[in-house]
Amino acid sequence: MRHLMSPLDFSVEELDRLLDLANDIEKNPDKYAHLCDGKRIATLFYEPSTRTRLSFEAAMMNLGGKVLGFSSANSSSAAKGESVSDTIRMVSCYADICAMRHPKEGAPLVASMVSSIPVINAGDGGHQHPTQTLTDLLTIRSLKGRLDNLTIGLCGDLKFGRTVHSLIEALVRYDNVSFVLISPEELRVPDYIREDVLEANHKNYREVIRLEEALPDLDLLYMTRVQRERFFNEEDYIRMKDFYILDKAKMELAPEDMLVLHPLPRVNEISTEVDNDPRAAYFKQVQYGVYVRMALILTLLEVKVC
Ligand code: NCD
Repeated sequence: MRHLMSPLDFSVEELDRLLDLANDIEKNPDKYAHLCDGKRIATLFYEPSTRTRLSFEAAMMNLGGKVLGFSSANSSSAAKGESVSDTIRMVSCYADICAMRHPKEGAPLVASMVSSIPVINAGDGGHQHPTQTLTDLLTIRSLKGRLDNLTIGLCGDLKFGRTVHSLIEALVRYDNVSFVLISPEELRVPDYIREDVLEANHKNYREVIRLEEALPDLDLLYMTRVQRERFFNEEDYIRMKDFYILDKAKMELAPEDMLVLHPLPRVNEISTEVDNDPRAAYFKQVQYGVYVRMALILTLLEVKVC
């Protein structure tokens, strides 16, 4: 039985197959509409979410399956002190697969160690968010036609943004990918990403503070929100929250075929005037998230696709 804790749990070849499957689902949804009839996904969300939880649920429903779960720690037995290990043992009796989001780094991993059903990490603290990365990879490959030979700007809260950490870990495995890390000094990527991921893989990267400086060179700009819930004090958050605002004027500095991605939710970091720019791909990204989660559920449940 396989779980998904990090994008590195799949080899590059396995990822290619998963993304191919997602693209086929996009083209032929009817072919997949009953492949999970009678199966259930449990969505165990100990932290707020809109897209991730709903997209897992939509993905299972699109495959003919059913969903059960909870959307906050307060509405589950965690409020009574139940451990994640006990919860997953119990949920294994009700469901065939589970997606778990938790504020503590490593909680889904702990669950996977005692689970008798596949566990998907749907975001653990400031650590990893592998299914957002699958979504990002599918979006990039579908709209750009490749995952290699890219210059990628990642902008915003690179310290606490788990989507950024997972995406960098996944992309260092492709040839000729360079990174421009755009953040204020206080929100730079953690040392382990710089040293154990970028430098260990001999990747070309630079760190800049000004977005304007990076824009002209990018094939792709990945914007992120400042992660308010992971700050120790509100004053620091307020000082940082509007550090970057991508607007029409800044988009003029960017190449005509640069894509703008964002895992969402957006706060102020992308002005709504950018939404109609053909380069804005963040709402398409949401749709790709459903296809890739369908492909992931089929893969982890080892459902035969003819
Ligand atoms: C992200 C997350 O939860 O890390 N959201 C998502 O799942 N699409 C990004 C964020 O919350 O900023």
